[in-house]
Amino acid sequence: MTTGSHLSPPLFTAPEIQQRVDCLADDIARDYGPADFSVVSVLKGGFVFTADLIRALARRGVHPVVDFVTFSSYGASTVSSRNVTLEREFSLPVTGRRILLVDDILDSGLTLNAAKKLLYDRGALDVRVCVLLDKKARRGIPMTANYTGFHIDNVFVVGYGLDFDNRYRELPDLVALISDTPA
Ligand code: XMP
Repeated sequence: MTTGSHLSPPLFTAPEIQQRVDCLADDIARDYGPADFSVVSVLKGGFVFTADLIRALARRGVHPVVDFVTFSSYGASTVSSRNVTLEREFSLPVTGRRILLVDDILDSGLTLNAAKKLLYDRGALDVRVCVLLDKKARRGIPMTANYTGFHIDNVFVVGYGLDFDNRYRELPDLVALISDTPA
């Protein structure tokens, strides 16, 4: 346990998450149909969600190309002054392709905004966004996801791939990390 904080009871349990992932896969399978497209998973937080989502797609007969990308951000004093930079490149071509970006959480929106821009700059035909969580209250720029698992309040969430200091990614449920020190 991280000193000075504790984990809440589940905000969403593993079965609730799986149910929602299945609904998202239904929507994506319906929208993309048999057309070829690429899933680009935003690491590291998106890895568990992506793994479950692509297997839910496979159960629906949908078999996209899968790639990964990593961004890092720094200068986090204010949302608008944060810089998002590409840390690990796409490894597969994006030119002329339909892309589904998959990430754990839409927070300020800066990461997915940068990712979308980069993909269009590289010649992607169409870029859609799928997030497990949307923390709308924290949005710093206009950014919406095409597919959203759950809307959440402004709490710090860990589990199901989301971390604090690279811990708790392994938790099967989504829980809040609560500081023991009053704000
Ligand atoms: P934005 O939308 O602000 O999101 O560019 C950047 C990244 O911030 C991380 N993030 C979180 N990670 N619990 C986490 O474990 C959270 O509550 C949380 N909010 C934001 C996440 O990696 C996201 O991709």
